[in-house]
Formats: sequence, C-alpha cells, structure tokens
Amino acid sequence: MTFNHSIHYHHNTLHIDSIPVADIVREVGTPVYIYSLKRALENYERIKNAFADFDAHVHYSAKANANLAILRALIQAGAGIDAVSAGEIHRAITAGAKPENIVFAGVGKSPTEIAYAVSQNVGWFNVENVAELQYIQTAAEQYQREQINIALRLNPEVTASTHPYIATGHGGAKFGLTADVIGGILARQTDYPRLKFAGLHVHIGSQLGDTTATQTAVQKALDMIAPYPAIRTLNIGGGFPAAYQTGQTLPAVAEFAAALKPIVKDYTLLLEPGRSIIADAGILITQILYVKQQAAQTFYIVDASMTELVRPALYKATHEIVPVIGHEAEKNAAQIVGPVCETSDVLGRDVLLPTLQTGDLLAILTAGAYGMVMSSNYNARPRPAEVVVNPDGSTWQIVRQRETWDDLLRSELG
Ligand SMILES: Cc1ncc(COP(=O)(O)O)c(C=O)c1O
Repeated sequence: MTFNHSIHYHHNTLHIDSIPVADIVREVGTPVYIYSLKRALENYERIKNAFADFDAHVHYSAKANANLAILRALIQAGAGIDAVSAGEIHRAITAGAKPENIVFAGVGKSPTEIAYAVSQNVGWFNVENVAELQYIQTAAEQYQREQINIALRLNPEVTASTHPYIATGHGGAKFGLTADVIGGILARQTDYPRLKFAGLHVHIGSQLGDTTATQTAVQKALDMIAPYPAIRTLNIGGGFPAAYQTGQTLPAVAEFAAALKPIVKDYTLLLEPGRSIIADAGILITQILYVKQQAAQTFYIVDASMTELVRPALYKATHEIVPVIGHEAEKNAAQIVGPVCETSDVLGRDVLLPTLQTGDLLAILTAGAYGMVMSSNYNARPRPAEVVVNPDGSTWQIVRQRETWDDLLRSELG
C-alpha cells in the first residue's frame, strides 16, 4: 500500500522513501519524527508549478515545522520564509534565508521582536495592529532604514470551510484589520515616512476545504487595494490542505490557482504555505508499551502522546495510524492512547488495526506539520528525536537529538 510517493509499504514493511522505518527505529528509538525531504521538496515544487502563471513567490510558513534541516532544504530550493516570531526569523537566517526573503507576520509582535526584524532587514512586515506601525517606524529610525515594506493584513470577514480553531478570516477573529481601519491607515501614510505601504495580506485559515472562500477573500482584498496604485503585492497567506485520510478529497493547490487566475491581474503574489509542504512528508513512530482490554475496548498505550502530537487533543484532528510491519490479519477497532495524565491524551480513536502486542511499532501519518513544533515537556517528558531522509531517498540522519532528563533541568536556576 502507498500513502504518497514517499510513505509506502514494501514487502509489508513501512518505508519512508527507500528506507525501512524499522531500521531507523533500531538506531534512534521511539518516539521519533521522520521526515522525507524528497516529499517536502516535491510538495514545494507542486505549489510553485501551480502558480507558475503568476508572478508568485512561495514563503514556507516556518510555524508548521521549523526544524533547521527542513528550512535549509526549502531555502536551498528557492523558498522564502514566513516567520511569526523573532525566534523563527533567527532560525530562518541560521538556516540560510536571506532576510529580504523573509516575511514577518503575527498578531502580537513585541517591540523587541520588531526591532530585531528591522535590524536584520527582513523583506516584509505583515501588520495587524495600528500601533505596530509606529514601532516599525521607530526601529527604522534607530537602524537608519528607509522604505520598509508593509503589507497590511485585511480581515476579510470571510468564514473558511475548516475547523473553527484554525479559521482566521471571520469578523470575530483576532486576526487582521478591518477594511475601515486599513482605509484610515492608507489615508495617513505620511505619518510613517520610513514605511512603504506596498502590499496587502489576507489569510483566512488553514486546511481550507474549498476554493470559494479564498476567492471571495482575495476579491475583497483586490477591491480594497484597487484605488491605491502603489500597492502591487498581494500576500494570500497559506492554508492549502493536506490529506489526513487515504482517499480524502480536497481541493488541489492547482484548483486554488485556477480560482484566482481570473481575478488576480498584474499583482505580485506572495504565498505562505506550511501544512501543504510538510504535513504528509512526516510520520511519528511510536511503540506499544501496554495492551489493555477495558470497557469492551482495546487500548494500545504507546510511548508517544499529546506532548509529541497535540493536534488530536487540541483540534480533534484525526491522523491515520498504521502498523510499521503490515499484517493481512483481520482488523479491529483500537484506541491509541499515550502515557500522559489527561483523558484527552488520545492519538487515535477506533483505529482499525490487526491484533498487536507490546513492542510493536505504529506510524502516525501526516504528522510533519504542527507536530514537533507544538510539542511540549508536559509531565517532564523529553521531546522526541527528529530524523530526515535525504532527497536521494536512501540516506538519513538524526537532525535533532532526543532530549534527556538533564536537558529539561538545564534552564532552571533553583
Ligand atoms: C498568516 C498565516 N500564514 C500562513 C499560515 C500557514 O498555514 P498552512 O500551514 O495552513 O499553510 C498560517 C497558519 O495558519 C497563518 O496564520
């Protein structure tokens, strides 16, 4: 069985590209995140190709997965970076990003973060608060920078077809600025002589289920900027979906491009995809610690938990979970739960699996985005190792070591 070009069974053994997952586990242990750089780069190219008819630039959204090896591979392939904190900017620059290819977004940038971004000369600020503009202006004076590119973020009051926790473009959301406020800022541009109001930003959510809401939001953005000839750049954010279940039908990136083609004329487009690049390039491997029959259910208690992958607990997200060694045997529903002391520490409900035993390995699929970046040390659990399989498909390396108990004590002073 094949889940995508890189994650597949070969002789009943789960492989990532041409590497048997069990080989990596033998050396690295569990839980471990494994990413296919080949798949991530393919996903990146697919997005670039879908928007080849536009003057479009892809800025990988580091919030989805900011591992340096992943950032480095995408930057080398030509991607810019969408960063939402000074920490992400620092990571992106460390991974080789040119500051001018970084966009700095975020609803709550601190003055210190803004000063850092200005000092580094980042390419764009996506602005979501009126008061942010003065902080940027002040930092520009301090660092003697002229003409800092600003993209005001429009809240288009469009409700995306996605989980409410990852919708950002409806009127009640904290994100963006209303059209009225943006109009007011654009009427007072001379208050900020070092800022260049050259773009508009709009992002309505993640894991978008249709192209219609995007088209509506982009049309609103275009209507907003039509009277301002100096605004030539439209940043349409991220949000392209990834399939979390085999056979799930979702709009392809090319469908988003096709929906935008008739309406976007003569603008430079910036894109900020995260999930659609890295989600299905990553898997989380976990080992069964215990098997418990209770309340007429089979519980597989595994060594990964909500501290490694919080999406199921946070968003009721579902991930396909499969055995690393495939079985043809009859399948029954099982509950895949972690060791953390929370009832919500469930990685998969009613997952159809053959009968498994302590020591067997499971792969949680489509775990590359919003997985490791959201991991925590709750219950004093060391965060897992991360491994990448190189673009050649046949070599791999550890790119982040498993934390130790001592690592968890390191920053404490007591
Ligand atoms: C402003 C902005 N850009 C880009 C992204 C990345 O979204 P995704 O990973 O769905 O592509 C997000 C995430 O929600 C976002 O808030």
